[in-house]
Amino acid sequence: MARLKSTFVCQNCGAVSSRWQGKCDDCGDWNSLVEEAASAGVAAGPLKSKRKGRVVALAPLAGETPEAPRVVTGISEFDRVTGGGVVRGSTLLVGGDPGIGKSTLLLQAAGALARQGHRVVYVSGEEAIAQIRLRASRLGLADAPVLLAAETSVEDILATLAVGEAPALVIADSIQTLWTEMADSAPGTVTQVRASAQALIRYAKQTGTAVIFVGHVTKEGQIAGPRVVEHMVDAVLYFEGEGGHHFRILRAVKNRFGPTDEIGVFEMTGGGLGEVRNPSELFLGERNVATPGAAVFAGMEGTRPLLVEIQALVAPTTLGTPRRAVIGWDQSRLAMVLAVLEAHCRVRLGDCDVYLNVAGGLRIGEPAADLAVAAALVSSRLNAALPADCVYFGEISLSGSIRPVSHATARLKEAQKLGFGRAVLPSSASGGADGGGAYRGIGQLVELVASIASTARGRSGDEHGADD
Ligand code: TYD
Ligand code: MG
Repeated sequence: MARLKSTFVCQNCGAVSSRWQGKCDDCGDWNSLVEEAASAGVAAGPLKSKRKGRVVALAPLAGETPEAPRVVTGISEFDRVTGGGVVRGSTLLVGGDPGIGKSTLLLQAAGALARQGHRVVYVSGEEAIAQIRLRASRLGLADAPVLLAAETSVEDILATLAVGEAPALVIADSIQTLWTEMADSAPGTVTQVRASAQALIRYAKQTGTAVIFVGHVTKEGQIAGPRVVEHMVDAVLYFEGEGGHHFRILRAVKNRFGPTDEIGVFEMTGGGLGEVRNPSELFLGERNVATPGAAVFAGMEGTRPLLVEIQALVAPTTLGTPRRAVIGWDQSRLAMVLAVLEAHCRVRLGDCDVYLNVAGGLRIGEPAADLAVAAALVSSRLNAALPADCVYFGEISLSGSIRPVSHATARLKEAQKLGFGRAVLPSSASGGADGGGAYRGIGQLVELVASIASTARGRSGDEHGADD
């Protein structure tokens, strides 16, 4: 293939530019443009075609469609996130930090499927066969009939897969190590990754084999290089967890065949990833009830309620600009809650450092956590422990009022199941909720602050942060 001319491709977003520049115009990333041959890749292919278009039959929207056939691993936390099993002929991308357990998870899924009698091929471009075998024996999967290959060439992989019956599932670990002769840029570049992914996706669609790609994640938390691949696959799952914790969370961020708000919770043990059937118990496991600054949030992850402890530390600052550090929650939402507490509830926080942590390494995206965060902050500021059997949920608006959130009944049920008889929640939700607990519906954030302040006063009689 003759080299026509060079183009410069952003390794972050895949945008193409005709000359080199320090900053990508599309995504604004610096120093991400890499020279690649213009004839390379897949985009160049169809443009050269002189073929006249063929008439395709247009189909009506209404019509009978059978349920997509799925392969179910039996690892229920994994099946839940994929929407009830991996759809045949579909492609999945599993992203996550190095060492988080992607290869472990997928080897366990592969082993489970192989034991059911499915033909499963695990292709690793990162580990040797001996390494994978070693891991399998540690996982108790040494006898599972998974077929292994240590290979990075897409052409060789496709030729291998063409022999014999088409597998039910192929795992490609990782997408960044694959390379194809169809593109003549270096392995790991956007063009290579995209061309390799496309070749395997085409294979999946033709044969009905499900293909799972493993993708590495950059420091910014995006799947490295090929954000383009996210658009090409049917589902994108992220496998995440906080460094020192052994909990791992599998989260769907895109799924053409299922919901995207479900999570699967795993625990990394010496024998691989164990499923966590009741995550609330796990996230509350190490709870120290008598400490000020801890509030239990009754959250929802998809269809599943999840109780988690929010911890806050508010301490006088020694710095000119007080520190605000957040783990597991949104920094700007914390700023908003602090501003509302300061402006509408007269809780002085401007001269305090604020640290906020979601226990267990969980990441919360729900606005319903606002009220639990506020409760933890005020509790720490006033040095008053919150009731040990109380959960909090509700969204705080900028005016200081508490907005209702969805699934109040499910949240309260889960709380009761775990022995939390009391709840502070939006007033509109408390009317509909039943269950016999002591539920306090509030309309304004200031009501919560007042009740925490009154317990603080009752306990010590001291003057604290809230103005009189
Ligand atoms: P791995 O699946 O190799 O991560 P990734 O493919 O995402 O890079 O997981 C590696 C980590 O998991 C490693 O630090 C050791 C730990 N681990 C266990 O704790 N127990 C186990 O049984 C296995 C297989 C791994
Ligand atoms: Mg790996």
